[in-house]
Amino acid sequence: MSLAEFNISKFRNIEQLSVTPSAEVNLILGENGGGKTSLLEAIYFLSHGKSFRTNKFKMAVQHQADGFLLHGKKQLNNIIIPVGLSKKRSGETLAKVHGKRCERMAQLAQVLPVQVITPESFDLFFGGPKERRRFLDLGLFHVEHEFYRVWQSFNKLLKQRNALLKQKPSNYIDQIQFWDKEFVRLSYTINEMREAYLNKFLTYFFDNIADKITLFKDLEFKLNSGWKTDLELAELLEANFARDLKQGFTSKGPHKADLSFNLNGVSVEQYFSRGQLKLLLYALKITQNVLIDSETDKQSIFLIDDLPSELSDSTKEGVAELLNLCNSQLFITAIDQQSISAVLELMNKNIKVFHVKHGKLITS
Ligand SMILES: Nc1ncnc2c1ncn2[C@@H]1O[C@H](COP(=O)(O)OP(=O)(O)OP(=O)(O)O)[C@@H](O)[C@H]1O
Ligand SMILES: [Mg+2]
Repeated sequence: MSLAEFNISKFRNIEQLSVTPSAEVNLILGENGGGKTSLLEAIYFLSHGKSFRTNKFKMAVQHQADGFLLHGKKQLNNIIIPVGLSKKRSGETLAKVHGKRCERMAQLAQVLPVQVITPESFDLFFGGPKERRRFLDLGLFHVEHEFYRVWQSFNKLLKQRNALLKQKPSNYIDQIQFWDKEFVRLSYTINEMREAYLNKFLTYFFDNIADKITLFKDLEFKLNSGWKTDLELAELLEANFARDLKQGFTSKGPHKADLSFNLNGVSVEQYFSRGQLKLLLYALKITQNVLIDSETDKQSIFLIDDLPSELSDSTKEGVAELLNLCNSQLFITAIDQQSISAVLELMNKNIKVFHVKHGKLITS
């Protein structure tokens, strides 16, 4: 699956730009402020209906313009599907897939799945459980069809439980006790699905990745379910009821799960250098991508912003080896070719180079 054509109009400093990317690797080069990240942001916007840089979409609308327009052609084998999105400053949005208006933005990502890695992703991922949980669940959404339904039902119950804890209507204790049976059942199901997925993940990781990057050979992965699993969740919910009531939210459950990584008993956040942490995030994302690719037809496009930043040549070589494992179409940005030559030299893929300056393509 690839983006075969892409057009941008009035998005950040890009007045008008059309690209015909390679289905394999696209390298976007240019000086600071040229529009490299904006180009990736536009691709991401077409998939997610939002930016990865800001939640104020107006920031992405070009100064003085009324709105922006993004249009792409997704290619899967011989099938071409046009995908478009227009967003007005007023907030008016129109998304279309194959000429038909989308009711939900999520439809865009189903047709055109896109993932992004930016220099900020590393701090987010290793800075707290939320991103790691999202990472794990993203894999599950794609690979385990039942997961979405279970996850949605659980989240509905969690919201309802938290609202009861906060608002305390007259019969709230009875209501919570009644719904907790289902809350517990869904919690165990989610945890089992996460464990099964993690097992698949580890098999690929240790057979294919740790094999190439010895730094990860003895890495230990630990899934924390969100409660102590040697204790019954039903009992924990009861034991924590007074505390939950005071706080107005549920303190135990799969919504508190985390995935952690240790080496010789020490967490990688404390042990690895920043460059090594970056390499680990690449390894995790690529493992996920290969699993999704092998079990579904939902192969993501990968956007990698400022790949060379903070990486020495040997780490860049590691990144190249990892990228070689994945069949996704890649869009990679860097300031200049020399900063990324250690990656390119090891990549056995078709590479197309684009230069951007003042929001325009100067060569292709
Ligand atoms: N809404 C907007 N309208 C017009 N120009 C904008 C808008 N928002 C940002 N810009 C400008 O767009 C330019 C492109 O920024 P971008 O972040 O894409 O550059 P970059 O090539 O990724 O640079 P760097 O190498 O520093 O990361 C910047 O000069 C910025 O000031
Ligand atoms: Mg940038």
